[in-house]
Amino acid sequence: MKELRVSAIKDGTVIDHIPSKSTFKVVEVLNLSKLDDAVMVAQNLKSKKMKLKGIVKVAGKELTQEEVNKIALLAPTATVNIIKNYSVRKKMNLELPEMLKGIIKCANPKCITNNDMVETKFHVRSTKPLRVQCHYCERYMTENDLEIL
Ligand code: CTP
Ligand code: ZN
Repeated sequence: MKELRVSAIKDGTVIDHIPSKSTFKVVEVLNLSKLDDAVMVAQNLKSKKMKLKGIVKVAGKELTQEEVNKIALLAPTATVNIIKNYSVRKKMNLELPEMLKGIIKCANPKCITNNDMVETKFHVRSTKPLRVQCHYCERYMTENDLEIL
């Protein structure tokens, strides 16, 4: 069987099992265009675990907790692999914390977070399907009205 291979990386992070359609959203929130090291992006790859998957490989970078939380919102099925000297040192499934601070924008234009210098704060009420609630104005939001800061 023929298989597409994307080259392995020596040190860095591989974000695997991204729902294919969200692949470039992951690239966008990680601000990868500013990096000097190699970045590899692939989408519409066949996968045993899901329909079609995307992969993002980033050489020489470890993700911050905030970046991991953003990926958990956009691509809850993803696995984050930390690569050290060509081998997978750590494999993480993504889990959302109970509270998201400064990560998403409130959809309510009247919310204090859209009018004063107040950091957004959301309670994660459910993950499948995703439902979050603004701590300040109590507005509920779902995957469809999610805007990542
Ligand atoms: N990978 C890489 N460079 C390396 C080692 C691994 O780019 N030096 C990538 C692999 O291509 C794969 C991911 O990191 O996309 C995870 O590697 P591995 O755990 O070996 O693959 P699988 O067993 O297929 O992972 P899973 O069980 O999560 O499906
Ligand atoms: Zn609000």
